[in-house]
Amino acid sequence: MARYLITSALPYINGIKHLGNLIGSQLPSDAYARYLRAKGHEVLLICATDEHGTPAELAAAKAGKPVAEFCAEMWAVQKDIADGFAMSFDHFGRSSSDRNHKLTQHFAGRLAEAGLIEEVMEKQVYSNADGRYLPDRYIEGTCPNCGYDKARGDQCENCTKQLDPVDLIEPRSAISGSTDLELRETKHLYLRQSTMREKLETWIDGQKDWPILTTSIAKKWLNEGDGLQDRGITRDLDWGIPVKRGDRAWPGMDGKVFYVWFDAPIEYIAATAEWADASGQDDAAWERWWRTDKGAGDVHYVQFMAKDNIPFHTLSFPVTLMGSAEPWKLVDYIKGFNWLNYEGGKFSTSQGRGIFMDQALEILPSDYWRWWLLSNAPESDDANFTWESFQSGVNKDLADVLGNFVSRVTKFCRSKFGEVVPEGGTYGEMEAAVIAEIARRLEAYEARMEAIELRKATAELRAIWVAGNEYLQAAEPWSVFKTDPGRAAAIIRFALNLIRLYGVLSAPFIPVASRDILAAMHVEDAEWPEDVKTALAALPAGHTFSVPEVLFAKITDERRDELEARFAGS
Ligand code: 2FM
Ligand code: ZN
Repeated sequence: MARYLITSALPYINGIKHLGNLIGSQLPSDAYARYLRAKGHEVLLICATDEHGTPAELAAAKAGKPVAEFCAEMWAVQKDIADGFAMSFDHFGRSSSDRNHKLTQHFAGRLAEAGLIEEVMEKQVYSNADGRYLPDRYIEGTCPNCGYDKARGDQCENCTKQLDPVDLIEPRSAISGSTDLELRETKHLYLRQSTMREKLETWIDGQKDWPILTTSIAKKWLNEGDGLQDRGITRDLDWGIPVKRGDRAWPGMDGKVFYVWFDAPIEYIAATAEWADASGQDDAAWERWWRTDKGAGDVHYVQFMAKDNIPFHTLSFPVTLMGSAEPWKLVDYIKGFNWLNYEGGKFSTSQGRGIFMDQALEILPSDYWRWWLLSNAPESDDANFTWESFQSGVNKDLADVLGNFVSRVTKFCRSKFGEVVPEGGTYGEMEAAVIAEIARRLEAYEARMEAIELRKATAELRAIWVAGNEYLQAAEPWSVFKTDPGRAAAIIRFALNLIRLYGVLSAPFIPVASRDILAAMHVEDAEWPEDVKTALAALPAGHTFSVPEVLFAKITDERRDELEARFAGS
């Protein structure tokens, strides 16, 4: 048995995430973790909210709340929604935690000692009316190129020209609209990533099994030089982690905080420490996941994220860890995701287009979403959510195949034999064929899970469900019962055992339905099967069960049309 550290990219605190965000990190990390735990591995699954940066400050201002209060509330909201989707995080932390303050300052101190931090004086736009420096994208004005009057300091949305705030005609604050702006000199820290280019390249080249999506993005940044320009790691903001070297003040850096992308990945470690604190354990408990000198040598570390996060995880964060010259655990495998589109376009928070996590849970139970999202995960390419595809996935896979099988078998048994596994009769060639088919599919399912090819894994799981349906169709216990009730009992006994097996095998993807299935079968601890034949004999004659409630309700065409209209956006 191995030890797996699994992290999901940290959702920004500034609002509730949509389904595209969910399938890009949290959901697949959970399915993978659930599978590995079921296989008996030791797993630690970590996530947290990413709470710093200007978007967090602005969202708080919009909500009319102090930023700390806003973040605390939004953390609780996001945590609740994650629970609603049955995310099995061992800890859902906060990047604003005390642990992260300490660790981030610790890393900055180590990097400074290693000569990897440079102090740079630069000019930045200060807004007197807002009493703050403005990041490029919070400065608006007229585009010198096309005359568009809402061009941002970093780029004109209209003609796509890259801009510098000083290029803008009549610049103003995007926050207050004030034109009372001035350029001020201010000192910032830069992480000298460029000096670590070769070390990073050797490390990345050594990752023979990384997905192409991950390595190609990493190499692109590495070779185009862009990603390896030295990066500013401090900002003139109020909200964030104060700039310090370890626990010592940093001369000239008063009132400044670390850049959100510097402290966010460090929160993977800090959240593990928060987990240890929350569960009453000492530092050794989290260090054995993160410090190779303290037991993390045999940990296999897997990260889940959307593709835009890959540069930060293949370059910047490793620079932080390696540059510290301390024995931190580096990632072993990065699973990146493409985009999920909504009805052919982008999900859009501002235009209210697409489905947000809270809305999804109000409409239908989490398993319906989990199943569709994971069986359509944007792994090899972008994927597209349509209500039609969602309806079809739910109705066909969940209701017609899995749900229907469970319902027909349990109801038929109740009417002929009672709510108990019937005895009598024998298994024959048909059962042997199903065992062989499922054994073959199970092997493929496990191989896909181990390779984190979730979409393909769901196809194998679906095929395992289909095998049960086809068996039932061919074995026809309802007609056999009339002439040979003993044989009908054997068929139903076998089918009830299939239901139990489905409860076990489906849990990574649809954990709530799986739990309900196992509860209906009066099964408490069902282990992942070692051998299919043995697993299909787990429920002996005489074992009781209860016919479950409808597991999955179908989505009607009217309901689908209604939902489609409701989420079409403005
Ligand atoms: O893209 C995002 O949503 C970021 N909040 C992800 C951060 S991942 C990690 F490094 F913290
Ligand atoms: Zn323009």
